[in-house]
Amino acid sequence: MASFRLRPRAMFHFALICVILLLSNLPVMANMYHRPNIVLILTDDLDVSIGGMIPLNKTRKLIGDAGITFPNTFVASPLCCPSRASILTGKYPHNHHVINNTLEGNCSSQSWQKTQEPATFPALLQKYGYYQTFFAGKYLNEYGNKEAGGVDHVPSGWDYWFALEKNSKYYNYTLSVNGKAQRHGQNYSEDYLTDVLANISIEFLQYKSNYRPFFMMVSTPAPHSPWTAAPQYEGQFPNVKAPRDPSFNIHGKDKHWLIRQAKTPMANSSVEFLDNAYRKRWRTLLSVDDLVEKVVKKLEVRGELANTYVIFTSDNGYHTGQFSLPLDKRQLYEFDIRVPLLVRGPNIKPNQTTKNKV
Ligand SMILES: *[C@@H]1O[C@H](CO)[C@@H](O)[C@H](O)[C@H]1NC(C)=O
Ligand SMILES: *[C@@H]1O[C@H](CO)[C@@H](O)[C@H](O)[C@H]1NC(C)=O
Ligand SMILES: *[C@@H]1O[C@H](CO)[C@@H](O)[C@H](O)[C@H]1NC(C)=O
Ligand SMILES: *[C@@H]1O[C@H](CO)[C@@H](O)[C@H](O)[C@H]1NC(C)=O
Ligand SMILES: *[C@@H]1O[C@H](CO)[C@@H](O)[C@H](O)[C@H]1NC(C)=O
Ligand SMILES: *[C@@H]1O[C@H](CO)[C@@H](O)[C@H](O)[C@H]1NC(C)=O
Ligand SMILES: *[C@@H]1O[C@H](CO)[C@@H](O)[C@H](O)[C@H]1NC(C)=O
Ligand SMILES: *[C@@H]1O[C@H](CO)[C@@H](O)[C@H](O)[C@H]1NC(C)=O
Repeated sequence: MASFRLRPRAMFHFALICVILLLSNLPVMANMYHRPNIVLILTDDLDVSIGGMIPLNKTRKLIGDAGITFPNTFVASPLCCPSRASILTGKYPHNHHVINNTLEGNCSSQSWQKTQEPATFPALLQKYGYYQTFFAGKYLNEYGNKEAGGVDHVPSGWDYWFALEKNSKYYNYTLSVNGKAQRHGQNYSEDYLTDVLANISIEFLQYKSNYRPFFMMVSTPAPHSPWTAAPQYEGQFPNVKAPRDPSFNIHGKDKHWLIRQAKTPMANSSVEFLDNAYRKRWRTLLSVDDLVEKVVKKLEVRGELANTYVIFTSDNGYHTGQFSLPLDKRQLYEFDIRVPLLVRGPNIKPNQTTKNKV
């Protein structure tokens, strides 16, 4: 008959395990294991005021309807680099000193790298929260500039780093893969950046450690110019036009100097150009919608959806014809400063919208 009495050798192992458990502070470990994961999907130039969320059916369903939509979300600066620096540091531009999209304006400059980058919130999550951190996509417009370390520079705080060199592109770009340049051409099935980001993201979700919570930031080039759609979406929305809202093609006569310089009415060629840009922006968003679906489905298959906050937002809004400005961002009005913000995750009830839209 087999004996279940512990023999000395087994006793020793048992004692060792007890010591290890005591030393390793079990409650802290259990707490850490249950910390929620965070996925942040950051789009580029996606407005909420002129219909930017309309083509994103799956995103609205999988994040908004499954959680909360914040209609009053405003960025600290309606321009890519200063806004991204604010998102990463939690500071206003007058405190992080990134004032425009150039190296001289501190966009990914050496002084940004030295003074701000070590304390971005993902770096803090990694350092103090034991999070695995993953980045894929557009970082800061001047990231990869040779005068600031090139793509060899991997900001502190990131365990997995797949960052686009410089500004938004869809084909013909370089990625920094953990500090090594990876060149991409123009073959849709290998290079279309939104899809590459989706594939890298779901691969991370497949192979990451299961013993640490994770923070994942996926930063799409879409719907920023040059608005290159995936081939299957090139013919979508043939009749869509920029909305003719009350400020479309009117003169902002009571607005600040810059706005008053706009020509009203806009030239027909400008209107044609902005309608075309509007359609192209929407087409690029269909690939973003696919990315969101792939990430959410992967979290679900891995059994991690319920313990993961999924956040969807943008670095700034956009305008097409408002106050007769053909197209861009960077103005201090609604269309450029208001951005989408949808969040789903633990303890967030579905189908909520915060009230009192201002
Ligand atoms: C989004 O949903 C609306 C309403 O169901 C539908 O009319 C539209 O075609 C859908 N858009 C896409 C891109 O599938
Ligand atoms: C860039 O950042 C550094 C360090 O914060 C600051 O001293 C400098 O004034 C900034 N440059 C600009 C143009 O704001
Ligand atoms: C960006 O800011 C720097 C520092 O003030 C300035 O020298 C440069 O001209 C600015 N560039 C643009 C494009 O605004
Ligand atoms: C990519 O680069 C090739 C070679 O320089 C060029 O012919 C092609 O037009 C570029 N494609 C895009 C989409 O920019
Ligand atoms: C594009 O990539 C796919 C998948 O790797 C490959 O099968 C195809 O031959 C490539 N097409 C071209 C034109 O190089
Ligand atoms: C993404 O992954 C899918 C499935 O493996 C593949 O068919 C597709 O070509 C990949 N796309 C890119 C751009 O890598
Ligand atoms: C511009 O478009 C408007 C409205 O479609 C039309 O009435 C007008 O004749 C056009 N002007 C020119 C110069 O083509
Ligand atoms: C959210 O609302 C939509 C539309 O009213 C509904 O179809 C959906 O079932 C709701 N989702 C949840 C999770 O309650």
